[in-house]
Amino acid sequence: MQAFPSFVQMSYSFRMTSEWWRTAAIYQIYPRSFADANGDGMGDLAGITSRLGDLHDLGIDAIWLSPFYTSPQRDAGYDVTDYCDVDPRFGTLADFDAMVAEAHARDIRVIVDLVPNHSSDQHVWFQAALAAAPGSAERARYLFRDGHGTAGGLPPNNWESVFGGPAWTRVTEADGMPGQWYLHLFDSSQPDFDWTNEVVREEFRRILRFWLDRGVDGFRVDVAHGMIKADGLPDYTPPTAGGSMGGAGGVTADALHDTVGTDATGVALEPEISDEAGDGAPYWAQDGVHEIYRDWRALLDEYPGERILAAEAWVDPLSRVAKWVRPDEMHQAFNFAYLETPWDAAALRTVIDASLDAFGAVGAPSTWVLSNHDVVRHATRLSVTEPNPQGHGLGPRSAGLPSYAPGLRRARAATALMLALPGSAYLYQGEELGLPEVIHLPDDARQDPTWFRTAGERYGRDGCRVPLPWEGSAPSYGFGPSDASWLPQPAQWAELARDQQRGVAGSTLSMYRDALARRREHGLASGSVEWLTGYPADVVALRNGDVIVVANTGSTAIELPAGDVLLTSEVLADRALAPDTTAWLRA
Ligand code: GLC
Repeated sequence: MQAFPSFVQMSYSFRMTSEWWRTAAIYQIYPRSFADANGDGMGDLAGITSRLGDLHDLGIDAIWLSPFYTSPQRDAGYDVTDYCDVDPRFGTLADFDAMVAEAHARDIRVIVDLVPNHSSDQHVWFQAALAAAPGSAERARYLFRDGHGTAGGLPPNNWESVFGGPAWTRVTEADGMPGQWYLHLFDSSQPDFDWTNEVVREEFRRILRFWLDRGVDGFRVDVAHGMIKADGLPDYTPPTAGGSMGGAGGVTADALHDTVGTDATGVALEPEISDEAGDGAPYWAQDGVHEIYRDWRALLDEYPGERILAAEAWVDPLSRVAKWVRPDEMHQAFNFAYLETPWDAAALRTVIDASLDAFGAVGAPSTWVLSNHDVVRHATRLSVTEPNPQGHGLGPRSAGLPSYAPGLRRARAATALMLALPGSAYLYQGEELGLPEVIHLPDDARQDPTWFRTAGERYGRDGCRVPLPWEGSAPSYGFGPSDASWLPQPAQWAELARDQQRGVAGSTLSMYRDALARRREHGLASGSVEWLTGYPADVVALRNGDVIVVANTGSTAIELPAGDVLLTSEVLADRALAPDTTAWLRA
């Protein structure tokens, strides 16, 4: 058992005590873009601390922070040089401790991101590996291999980077000659660790303890399906073009839509989600990853307070994702099948059933998520009419772009449905303001490595990462004290700013706040789903405890059933539930 430094004494008392993670509403903070205390245009930890009151008011249970560790920021912090320190752009360890203390004082738990698949190429280990000879202990912490072909001039295999281009980069050896190649499933600045090496495993145990001792409540584990590669690193050609955040590439909302239907009796059919992540790729979902998480779970369980592990594992199908949350492994896994489901009643019923079955079968809660820092914001995505593979992003040249108001309407209806489901829900900063994807970023402002590695063919993820608006008429819309913002903010931010929506009936912010409050009041997150019959096929209708939820994905209004209306995603003039609207009623 660890001795706890005094600053993390477990003196705070949470609303939820037992197995809090089964029902938690977890809010993702993308530190670069949340709030900027020092006015340099980049968000920081002090900014987060200063805005925790707003998150408490929103009614969330925990925050998850994307990486704030020391990093050259080639992939916005998912390229770490020091796993146990704060990048000066974001503050100091003292700022981190202050943020955790303030969050805990407000009953908000703190989950941090852990990036174990790869480090930055500026990490001391990788620099040592470059300086050392082939076959050395230094190189053995990463995946260095000799090339094929004449003088090793071809990469060791044909794997492609998730961000585009080859997954191998050749180094120059000490003698100035071209030498070995190293593997990077992402950018060339993100070399993959060799997780068969015990030295790597021991280092990550140290990193876990470092943050647990500082009082964090858990870890979101980046690329949790990628750390082990198949023996011999065999060639692999994906059946469809790749490009997602690690493997489920090619699974588009449209693809799912196409494969889901109803049988003659109106019963939803199983979606046939492409399983390239699960079955084929020699770098995703290898069985060997699970022993790592069993080891980590045992380590976390030494600590009081139910610290958790949440897997970012882009794996199909859900029954396979459930392996990550078996009782002795992680607590939660992101439900990306749900995120990738189109706004279609049959598809939604199918994925909800599949989620509850798959996670329930191993005793884990389902999670639900519609947006994060890697995907097109759902206020835009759910209404895009052309295929848009995940990770490709949207920009001025993209086809099928929706207009704002109808997109937002659908997104609000989708959120109201999601927050009525049993399990843990993830929210991404800014969705509570109804922020759309920012399409019209100037090319020279874009920073996602995807944009550079595909020579502008894929826009990448910058459009969902634009700094938040807090005050409609302040410089940088209140993001910080100056008008600096690392990505330019659109003029639309003025009307969407938090101060424009706070306390305003019918605003997106008010809807999120009300939904989170009713979700808690009615115990929806610990309830269950009972499908209701007698509704048109394009309506999702369910009962969870004493609440009836009706979501209209069709194109005609329907009459609401009897019962007091508890929540609606749009203001209703009468008891007609218009298209793209969700209502909660007391059963
Ligand atoms: C995860 C992160 C993504 C990052 C990638 C490489 O998918 O969510 O933002 O680029 O891993 O670390």
